[in-house]
Amino acid sequence: MVASLRNNTGKIEPLIPEVVPKHVAIIMDGNGRWAKARGLPRTEGHRQGTENLRRILKACVEFGVEILTIYAFSTENWKRPRAEVRVLMSILEMVIDRELRELHESGVQIRHIGELDAMAPALQKKIRYACDFTKNNTKLILNVAFNYGGRDEIIHAVRKIVASGIAPEQINEDLISSYMYTSPLPDPDLIIRTSGEVRSSNFLVWQGTYSEYYFTPVYWPDFDKEQLREALIEYSRRTRRFGQTDEQIKDE
Ligand code: FPP
Repeated sequence: MVASLRNNTGKIEPLIPEVVPKHVAIIMDGNGRWAKARGLPRTEGHRQGTENLRRILKACVEFGVEILTIYAFSTENWKRPRAEVRVLMSILEMVIDRELRELHESGVQIRHIGELDAMAPALQKKIRYACDFTKNNTKLILNVAFNYGGRDEIIHAVRKIVASGIAPEQINEDLISSYMYTSPLPDPDLIIRTSGEVRSSNFLVWQGTYSEYYFTPVYWPDFDKEQLREALIEYSRRTRRFGQTDEQIKDE
């Protein structure tokens, strides 16, 4: 894939600003395997993955991505060994404690998607504070999917719709979208999954219907700015048809 991204002077093609995806979502996979390959504990993979997130955030701002959604802890991740769950929780806490000011100064707006209630009250409070503190920032929206599951999100939305007494004939796609955790943000244009796994793993089940997917064998801690650039260039070459024909798209 890399070869096809190079022009005849061997340089990587530049990004075309008009086709940079507005909303990129990432399944940051492969931390455990990255660590195992180096004889390190899995938790070291998560630490390196967190460092990498800082680099990718900067690269997103530089490339003109407006919204980044990261899959940091799924509703299924509770099944992991308790010590690893504790580390993942503490990483989120540490990111808020140590990085909030810098994220704020860089213009990052933090949003949380997922079920807050199952988390420790102190962590819930920190997440709420981080979201509130950065709510007026506009440089980059960072959606942190933590204790998030796509099916869980749909159940949550259906419950709220039913509880609010909405008539069945009023239910349409826009209404359901407005009950998703991501509302009012647009759906992701591009979903990247690192580490060679080729599945969506309950991530953005509703919102990802028409997203372009990009899979790479690179483990998350090694997915750097140039890897991101390649993903964005690959995206820029795709034709998004949303169910229409090529001819219809050309006529638009
Ligand atoms: C998947 O790798 C990764 C996770 C479950 C956690 C992702 C978390 C981070 C990158 C840290 C940043 C987090 C926050 C809260 C900002 P894996 O453990 O499934 O790797 P494996 O498939 O190789 O075992």
